[in-house]
Amino acid sequence: MRKAPSGISPVIALDRKAETPLYRQVYDAYRIAIVEGRLRGGQRVPSTRLLAVELRISRLPILNAYAQLVAEGYLESRVGAGTVVSRSLPDQVILSQIRGRRLTSVSQRPRPLSHRTSSLLPLGTGPWQRGWGAFGVSQVAFEQFPFAVWNSLVARHSRKLQAQALDYGSPMGSKDLREAVATYLRTARAVRCEADQIMIVSGSQQGLEITARALLDPGSRVWMEEPGYRFARNVFASNGCQIAPVPVDEEGLKVADGIRRCRQARVALVSPSHQYPLGSTMSASRRLQLLEWAEHSASWIVEDDYDSEFRYESSPIASLQGLDTNSRVIYIGTFSEVLFPSLRIGYVVIPSDLVEHFVAIRLAMDLAPSGFFQSVLADFIQEGHFSRHIRRMRLLYNERRNVLLECIHGELGRATKVTGAQAGMHLSVIIKGVSDRHVAQRAAKQNLWLVPLSSSYLGKVRQQGFILGFGSSATEEIPNAMRELRALLDSR
Ligand SMILES: Cc1ncc(COP(=O)(O)O)c(C=O)c1O
Repeated sequence: MRKAPSGISPVIALDRKAETPLYRQVYDAYRIAIVEGRLRGGQRVPSTRLLAVELRISRLPILNAYAQLVAEGYLESRVGAGTVVSRSLPDQVILSQIRGRRLTSVSQRPRPLSHRTSSLLPLGTGPWQRGWGAFGVSQVAFEQFPFAVWNSLVARHSRKLQAQALDYGSPMGSKDLREAVATYLRTARAVRCEADQIMIVSGSQQGLEITARALLDPGSRVWMEEPGYRFARNVFASNGCQIAPVPVDEEGLKVADGIRRCRQARVALVSPSHQYPLGSTMSASRRLQLLEWAEHSASWIVEDDYDSEFRYESSPIASLQGLDTNSRVIYIGTFSEVLFPSLRIGYVVIPSDLVEHFVAIRLAMDLAPSGFFQSVLADFIQEGHFSRHIRRMRLLYNERRNVLLECIHGELGRATKVTGAQAGMHLSVIIKGVSDRHVAQRAAKQNLWLVPLSSSYLGKVRQQGFILGFGSSATEEIPNAMRELRALLDSR
């Protein structure tokens, strides 16, 4: 069990003019806070000396109040641990706590919520989202992370922390990290950018939210890949946008379909390097067609480049943003897949003329990103650990991917269509005549986590199957997991 935060004073409103003596007021405040469950068993209370300073009274009434609370079993004094709320409260106190909880039950009167809230798809609730292991999507090789290097950088930054680092940072993020990201993107992803166009965000999810708020109005139309990334759908829906699902094929987004269905969309969200979830790489002709549409119809393209570092059969494909000569592309990237997702650091490359507008949104939202890990990450990149990690992971993921492909062919047969295996940390298997959700639900009961492909469709589900992650799947666990999947499919 986590320790309760210690030594924090409860709210005590003393009335110096009241007839009730001060010691009694302190005693009452504590007793009520304990009875109502605001102070919990084991929680440390401030020392009498500190509380006296805080309440600006002498120590005597506080000593008396504490003594009575101890005598009645509300508080207990422990040598070396100070005074804590008793873990074994008297029965009548526990009874009143239960009554106290009832006092805060949910009222029956209407409880209005924003339209924004009710427009959201319930995400993260499928039974397949509960665990770790073979086939986990967006899970990296956690155990292979260079912990020693990272920990030493964290220690170095902790040791040299200075007053300046405690202030609000720039809404764009730390200069050092932005320089490092700009160099990386120009070199490895052929992105056209300078550091002053890069905004550091809390993962690409926040990058999308800021982009949506900066570019879109309620009612604006947005092209989304179908099937596509549902977490992005919720960003647009909560901003009141109308979503136009546009199908994808082996060449990526079917731009002509988008134009036919909804020419006047303000934004097209695409993942051209490795479409999520089917994994196609957008062809050169589609890229040019999309850029031309955006310029012609005065629209924006949002490029989600979430896992392009890992390509197995060719060198990484240049970004779409790098082809754009009209500054129509907002490029979003993340360290979630290439390092680890709890880092919550991503970036947006903003066309120069839009930077001030994105900053205005950032200031309205969370002012600035948290500083500490930006500094750690900047050094991690600048000192070469980042590129080393990518190289190492590319080999590891390739090995895991190859085993997975072999197992798919061995267990599910060559008739099963595999898409998107050329890059990233997941692929999709398309299986005819299956209810993927039903299988995924059964699989979850035996701790096998399968993301059903159908969950990525906004409209009619055209293909069923599974999105199989291999980033966190140890090579030796893949054959077994695949046999389990096959058994589940056989017993449909
Ligand atoms: C399509 C896509 N975009 C972006 C992300 C990363 O999101 P974030 O950077 O917020 O962790 C993921 C992770 O699963 C993803 O699948």
